[in-house]
Amino acid sequence: MKAQPGGRLVVVDDEPVILNVLRSVLADEPWDVAFAANGAEAKAAMDAGVDVLLTDKNLPDINGLELIRYARECTEDAEAIVLTGYASLDTALEALKLEAFDYIVKPPRDVFEIPKKVRAAFERQHIRRENRRLLRELSERNEALETALSELRRTQSELIQSEKLAGIGTLAAGVAHEISSPLFGVMGLAEAIVDEDNLADIHEYAGEIVSYSRAIKEIVVGLTGYARDAKGDSDTPVDLTAAARDAVRLVVRSGAASEQAISVDAAEAWVQARSGELQQIFVNLVRNAAEAAGPAGHVWVNIAFDGDTVVATVADDGPGLPEDAVSQVFDPFFTTKAPGQGTGLGLNIVYRLVTRYRGAITAGNRPEGGAVFTVRLPATEAP
Ligand SMILES: Nc1ncnc2c1ncn2[C@@H]1O[C@H](COP(=O)(O)OP(=O)(O)OP(=O)(O)O)[C@@H](O)[C@H]1O
Ligand SMILES: [Mg+2]
Repeated sequence: MKAQPGGRLVVVDDEPVILNVLRSVLADEPWDVAFAANGAEAKAAMDAGVDVLLTDKNLPDINGLELIRYARECTEDAEAIVLTGYASLDTALEALKLEAFDYIVKPPRDVFEIPKKVRAAFERQHIRRENRRLLRELSERNEALETALSELRRTQSELIQSEKLAGIGTLAAGVAHEISSPLFGVMGLAEAIVDEDNLADIHEYAGEIVSYSRAIKEIVVGLTGYARDAKGDSDTPVDLTAAARDAVRLVVRSGAASEQAISVDAAEAWVQARSGELQQIFVNLVRNAAEAAGPAGHVWVNIAFDGDTVVATVADDGPGLPEDAVSQVFDPFFTTKAPGQGTGLGLNIVYRLVTRYRGAITAGNRPEGGAVFTVRLPATEAP
């Protein structure tokens, strides 16, 4: 059986007989019961606490309904049961609707109804209190959840912020990586000019310096992604072979390989793109290949067609890619070079550029040894 909710019961009736009956029927109940013979006594009893008030409706000094109000002043959710005679039942019921929980008609026919009704009052009060407690607990939890949520939002925005910063870091490293080749080219050519007496050669070098400087500018603008929206800078048919040859020359100029170490076998192919970006793709692939092959090694650049697709391969006779590196080489910052030697950004930049042109790139090894990178790009009509 469920444990009965306890509490304090105040019983008021000015008729000693009734009060005695009440005293005896409530004697075995678990509540703390106070009996009062009039309104003043009842008030005093309620000052010490009240959960349920069982009161006669008509007391000589204070009206029963007024006592109920007093009970509610003492205890906000005090329950009340009114004892009323038959004669005044109608008016009592009317009042009851407003004030009391229940009523008992005097003289009570079944005295055991009385403790039942009191018990029901305590139970009802208990349920209400329990509900209120749960509601309070719920709103506390709700508050805690809301605090956690706003904390989460704050952390999230901080994360986004730091993610952006990390993105900017990668971008800056990418720009630095990409401009290093043309920059070395510019420096090499400038040094050559210093030692050159032939005006025609000087002119040629100066022209190359201008084009490498343009490439640097394009890289800076292009890698930040703004170039996509810039007017007059949209994709045009670009001679892929010319871009590959320019890239090879740039790699040679930057001192990463000798001219004899790289051979180009290319069909005429056009791709809808920006020439600087195509050149960047080849600069990275050819430089990696030359670095892997070493001074005595060789690099082969091949451009051919597979239907409407241009297939460009850059192969070398170096050590090739370790089996487990094949899936990782395009990840940003993946490098097998000694710390400070490589950033691991080259192939990631290549990957991003190729996919931007709806192309594909794969890494693998040649059967006879050495690595081979295959770039596939949609071909376009020659202008
Ligand atoms: N031709 C190749 N032969 C063998 N391994 C290669 C070749 N090209 C790339 N790799 C491997 O892929 C890794 C990543 O290349 P990626 O160009 O992204 O960076 P990196 O060359 O290491 O650094 P950085 O480009 O800054 O010099 C290299 O460190 C190397 O391990
Ligand atoms: Mg590299």
